[in-house]
Amino acid sequence: MGRRPLDAKGDGSRVSDTPDRPVSDATRVVTAGRRPEWTNGIVNPPVWRASTILYDTVADLRAGLAGDSHHRLFYGRRGTPTQWSLADALTELEPGAGGTILYPSGVAAVAAALLTVLSPGDELLLVDSAYDPTRAMADGLLRRMGVTTRYYDPLIGGGIAELIAERTRAIFLESPGSLTFEVQDVPAIAAAARARGCVTILDNTWATPLHFRALEHGIDLSVLACTKYVVGHSDAMLGSVTATPELWPRLLSTSRQLGQVASPDDCWLASRGLRTMAIRLKQHEASALRIAQWLATRPEVAEVLHPALPACPGHELWRRDFTGASGLFSFVLNGGTDAARSALIDGLALFGIGYSWGGFESLALPVDPHRHRSVAKRPQAGPMVRLQIGLEDPADLIADLEAGLDRWRRATD
Ligand SMILES: Cc1ncc(COP(=O)(O)O)c(C=O)c1O
Repeated sequence: MGRRPLDAKGDGSRVSDTPDRPVSDATRVVTAGRRPEWTNGIVNPPVWRASTILYDTVADLRAGLAGDSHHRLFYGRRGTPTQWSLADALTELEPGAGGTILYPSGVAAVAAALLTVLSPGDELLLVDSAYDPTRAMADGLLRRMGVTTRYYDPLIGGGIAELIAERTRAIFLESPGSLTFEVQDVPAIAAAARARGCVTILDNTWATPLHFRALEHGIDLSVLACTKYVVGHSDAMLGSVTATPELWPRLLSTSRQLGQVASPDDCWLASRGLRTMAIRLKQHEASALRIAQWLATRPEVAEVLHPALPACPGHELWRRDFTGASGLFSFVLNGGTDAARSALIDGLALFGIGYSWGGFESLALPVDPHRHRSVAKRPQAGPMVRLQIGLEDPADLIADLEAGLDRWRRATD
């Protein structure tokens, strides 16, 4: 047993967290979820792999069935300290939350959040700028279940109240939106939802709880694709849902019925990633902002969609509600063809071409948001490119992009 428990009371409150002086998030990512009674004092929880848990007697086995087996070794599907520690850490990053469940991917987490609150006959209001697989889930699985979906403009704000109908049960937000980065008025939407008895679900992957505390802004279920910044090294898939105390029992029971298990190996990688997330995010933020500002000065670029730049739709909401930015944004080329955009991307030396983001390495992706929009299609001067800015020196990345813009110009002239 470690001699200096970080959680002296065993109730999730930190010994260093006082009402007068809550610890900062940079400290919290270091201390969160570390319970010596789970790890015998080992700093990062080891990988505990398990399916069967053995009991000494039949009586012990039966006793195991009694009461709540959350955070108790029971059967592999209920997890081990490797998973509990990470889930607890994510709960601590959303002060006041009831608990967190982990899933084998971000999309699995989105599915669990939706299935926690929706039943046949319900209506879902889904932001038009949601991640495409979230839309596919609404248009496929949910529709088959008898749940209807209406899409809404990400910039609707408090106007959402007019869309809430008798059957509306949940509002799904993603802020900033995928590919186009519109920032939503989360407090206004959450207030309208509460007033009408609707649940709000937010995909908070871009900001993470370090840049946007979802529950403090009125959200009921906060989803993270931990695959991105929590893991941070592009080597594991993982998702999470963090719930208010009111929704936590329902999230827990729905998740148990779904039977999804996050692998202890992946949780171990994510716990390791979490410890450096605050410092990594600082660098992602600084480098991405520098590159976004540079791109905004270039004649080849029509528009830069980065929530920290004034031209981004919802920028003033980002300033009001967020404490920082991360490393993902898009830019629109000043005309040109798909082939010219490919010439720009194909020749990049430091940017990989591939899906996902949030890792230590930079990525560039051709994106066409109008294919995934129903109610909020915005005019675009040319093809769009999404950049994930990694931890390389931004001066090297700018030189790489400058050569790329040159290739675009030659292919366009
Ligand atoms: C905003 C957003 N949410 C959710 C996901 C899904 O996460 P995963 O790839 O872990 O399923 C992604 C993946 O790119 C994403 O960009």
